[in-house]
Amino acid sequence: MEIKKAVIPVAGMGTRFLPATKSMPKEMLPVIDKPVIHYVVEEAIASGIDDIIFITGRSKRSIEDYFDDSPELESHLRQKNSDKLLKMVQDISSMVDIHYIRQKEPRGLGDAILTAKKHINDEPFAVLLGDDIIVNKTPCTKQLIDNFQKYGRSTIAVEEVPPEKTGNYGIIQGKPMDESLYILEDIIEKPDPKEAPSNIGAIGRYVFTPEILDCIKQTTAGVGNEIQLTDGIRLLNKEQKIYAYRFTGKRYDTGDKVEYVKAIIDFALGNEETKKEIMEHIKDIGL
Ligand code: G1P
Repeated sequence: MEIKKAVIPVAGMGTRFLPATKSMPKEMLPVIDKPVIHYVVEEAIASGIDDIIFITGRSKRSIEDYFDDSPELESHLRQKNSDKLLKMVQDISSMVDIHYIRQKEPRGLGDAILTAKKHINDEPFAVLLGDDIIVNKTPCTKQLIDNFQKYGRSTIAVEEVPPEKTGNYGIIQGKPMDESLYILEDIIEKPDPKEAPSNIGAIGRYVFTPEILDCIKQTTAGVGNEIQLTDGIRLLNKEQKIYAYRFTGKRYDTGDKVEYVKAIIDFALGNEETKKEIMEHIKDIGL
């Protein structure tokens, strides 16, 4: 079965980036000239998704505005004969079908995803968290979709994380099938390094069978007193096989200051317009 729908939760507060995120969604922080969320949407589209559901919250209006038409800006660019910029701006608002659901209270990632239940309509779907930019020729979400198509079961993207950082991730215990695939045995939300079953963490990409939604519904508040997606995955794992897939690609957690700066440097070095001067600057400061 094809996967055409993706849920992208963007209701989080972005406390790691205060004060910048006091009046601006963390997903709108730019990496060179595009906000982080633009890269995430591009990944979804390049993976075959044509219907995106953003789960938003208060103070996330600028995300809606970003993907909407901008009549004043467009007419201004038209008058100035800035055809290239005009096309760039128009392309953004026609990228893909986007629907918005407001999560009234931030009650956790699981709860955010659950608000999309009606729209998902019993189909398998992808989830992309709005913080991660993942660079690879075959997009990470497409890699998960390929595995889903092979086995017909939910697949979550994982990678090795520093052992001292297990407390930031859903950490899996898995039975290796080959070098990149595990059968999920368990997943624990943000365990202390001493209690973590491994250092293989779920990053922000998932493909689910629709039954995940009923499983999330059955969970009660977990870590941080929030409805956790991880607890829903644990329940689903009792009913259906779930795969954990060690994806290929470079991930930047742009919700983390250091990773965000690394993303900017790498993207600037990969961009013809900025590459030369940034290289010179790096030499100048003696790195
Ligand atoms: C969420 C999930 C966690 C996952 C992480 C990936 O946590 O709850 O299981 O490993 O995303 O980024 P958050 O980062 O929203 O606290």
